[in-house]
Amino acid sequence: MRRLVFIAVLIATLPLPIAGQELRLPNKPGSVKFAVIGDTGTGDRNQVAIANELASWRTRYPYEFVVMMGDNLYGGENPKDFDKKFGTPYKPILGAGVKFYAALGNHDDAALQRNYKPFNMNGERFYSFKPQGGVRFFALDSNYVDKAQLDWLEKELTASGSEWKIMFFHHPLYSSGETHGSAELQRGLLEPVFLKHGVNVVLSGHEHFYERIKPQKGIAYFIIGSSAKLRKGDLAKSELTAYGNDSEYAFMLMEIAGDELFFQTINQSGKTIDTGSIKRVGKVDPTPARTAQPVVPQAKPSPVQPGPRQSK
Ligand SMILES: [Fe+2]
Repeated sequence: MRRLVFIAVLIATLPLPIAGQELRLPNKPGSVKFAVIGDTGTGDRNQVAIANELASWRTRYPYEFVVMMGDNLYGGENPKDFDKKFGTPYKPILGAGVKFYAALGNHDDAALQRNYKPFNMNGERFYSFKPQGGVRFFALDSNYVDKAQLDWLEKELTASGSEWKIMFFHHPLYSSGETHGSAELQRGLLEPVFLKHGVNVVLSGHEHFYERIKPQKGIAYFIIGSSAKLRKGDLAKSELTAYGNDSEYAFMLMEIAGDELFFQTINQSGKTIDTGSIKRVGKVDPTPARTAQPVVPQAKPSPVQPGPRQSK
């Protein structure tokens, strides 16, 4: 009995850093579980630190795949570089059968990477995949948004009956970064297509920080380009910013359960720096100013306020 009391007291007095390490996703059976990383290809200890956190969190949250926002390899791209900057850091999760899906960044050799089997690009610069009925991911090549890609995207989106349409690519259409800022050229080409076809969520990298953008025309945008590189002080928070962090390395965990997408952003020490969810509202008529499937963001407060203690 005394032992039980002792355990109860221990749980009630957990320090805040431990609370910050709690899984804040529902972790429901049958949901779509994945991780998001960006600008990873350094091969240095910062990439390894995030890779280790990815492996550690998978014991609590069994995500099935990882999407990569580009700049997958900085510098050399010889076979030994693919090992050092990808295969070795992520070996524990690759070995556990986790699949990676890459998008191309401005530092990436398209000819090499699209044919690198573990990136699952099937030889293409842009491609889509469907992890489960109702959810489709589209990897774009934001380095060259040419007619071939736009025609493909239009066709794919027209054919897709998926409720959740998630885009991922390197250059952020909206960003408060001082170094790069919003990719307005790409935005001008892509955003009208996204709005017409009811895209819900857009994930990007390129900026070496984390920024959750306020929804733009009903679409939720995230920048996560700090999974190995960090540009401290580069995030000039603006009217676009819902939340941002340019002082810590980070990755994201996401979960789609029915009409809700939950997210949790975690730093190199395993501490949660942002969490929340967005909800699909359902189909409405598209207009040039609004997506056909608007989302309601920030169903939960953020940045994280430690919630009620959990007993397990
Ligand atoms: Fe980049």
